[in-house]
Amino acid sequence: MSSLDVSMTVNGQTVTGRVEARRTLADFLRKDCAATGVHLGCEHGVCGACTVVLDGRTARSCCTLAVQADGAEVRTVEGMANGTDLHPLQEAFWARHGLQCGFCTPGILLTVQELLADNPDPSDEQIREALSGNICRCTGYQFIIDAVKDAAAVLRAAPDTRS
Ligand code: FES
Ligand code: FES
Repeated sequence: MSSLDVSMTVNGQTVTGRVEARRTLADFLRKDCAATGVHLGCEHGVCGACTVVLDGRTARSCCTLAVQADGAEVRTVEGMANGTDLHPLQEAFWARHGLQCGFCTPGILLTVQELLADNPDPSDEQIREALSGNICRCTGYQFIIDAVKDAAAVLRAAPDTRS
């Protein structure tokens, strides 16, 4: 099996590795970068649990090879908080009970962070549309939508906290 060198930035840190060509970005992030907030559900692009940010846009890391991310800037949920200060979206999910088991939560947080960067004041319908590729099995989407709207209001008042 051929192996290839890869190098990328993960949550601001440069990481390098040697991977089999077939290794997914999800496996590389989880096993080689300790980014275990990258969750694997369906492993074929349906559930959104493995969502990461790849060069500024969300991507399914289960359907992306690590070698495809060579040279890229990757963010995972581990990069959202600033030290012990949670991102406003994380605070709102906590306050609004926007999660139960939390399996879907990393992918949902990164997806709605992208939404709010593009649209700081989305309607319920727009939030539902943005989340249509992220499956949550246990919370129920209304609490998640409530949390997104709360965070959107916080971020509109203090946009420098969006990063
Ligand atoms: S694990 Fe990647 S979309 Fe489900
Ligand atoms: S919180 Fe359990 S799957 Fe969403």
